[in-house]
Amino acid sequence: MTGTAKARTGETPAARQKRVWDKAAPGYDKQIAFFEKIWFGGGRERLGERAQGRVLEIAAGTGRNLPHYPAGTTVTGIELSPAMLAIARQRAAGLGRDVDFREGDAEHLPAGDASFDTVVCALSLCTIPDPAAAIGEMRRVLVPGGRLLLLDHIASTWPPVYAAQWLLERITIRAAGEHFTRRQLPLVQSAGFQVVETERLKAGTVERIYAVKPA
Ligand SMILES: C[S@@+](CC[C@H](N)C(=O)[O-])C[C@H]1O[C@@H](n2cnc3c(N)ncnc32)[C@H](O)[C@@H]1O
Repeated sequence: MTGTAKARTGETPAARQKRVWDKAAPGYDKQIAFFEKIWFGGGRERLGERAQGRVLEIAAGTGRNLPHYPAGTTVTGIELSPAMLAIARQRAAGLGRDVDFREGDAEHLPAGDASFDTVVCALSLCTIPDPAAAIGEMRRVLVPGGRLLLLDHIASTWPPVYAAQWLLERITIRAAGEHFTRRQLPLVQSAGFQVVETERLKAGTVERIYAVKPA
């Protein structure tokens, strides 16, 4: 689901991800639209249905969740790749949606403590270099009682599928920093969120989480 770019000597993981996603940006919408049909169907709608108030979308990509946020929400989008962000800006303009886009790193969010009612992160904890640090930042910027909404592909519950994912990520981690055997739920729990809903679909390879920062 990404372009490829091997790590360069001395390059930070974030700088590498920025380079990977700048390269992947022009083809991303076409590529992900296919996977949305066969793998992630209904996931973006579900995020939108649960979002409320001041919404922060982390690793917002090309803004594919924007059409699903309800009227009355205000949306801020943070994204590492300027090329992905440029497409997201065009999408927001096309939708007539006023979005505060910020270039930034999920592991060091350019946002104040307790400043959002909802944090959304879709299809990105698989590629963010330190997902535990990113989830810690999501907790910091949420108000007490605020909602965390996640969607991602994760390690399968079926051993043969897991084995295939493990083999595949031997290539994709080196080529593009893309992981297939990560799991969001333990990170969410160890960051102290209360889990409200979880769902695993497609042989356990897709996980949807709705959790709340304790009041
Ligand atoms: C598979 S795309 C998903 C984009 C979008 N969330 C979606 O649902 O279509 C992964 C995105 O994560 C972004 N990303 C990777 N590491 C990041 C980081 N440390 N901080 C912010 N964004 C990051 C990439 O630039 C890319 O846009």
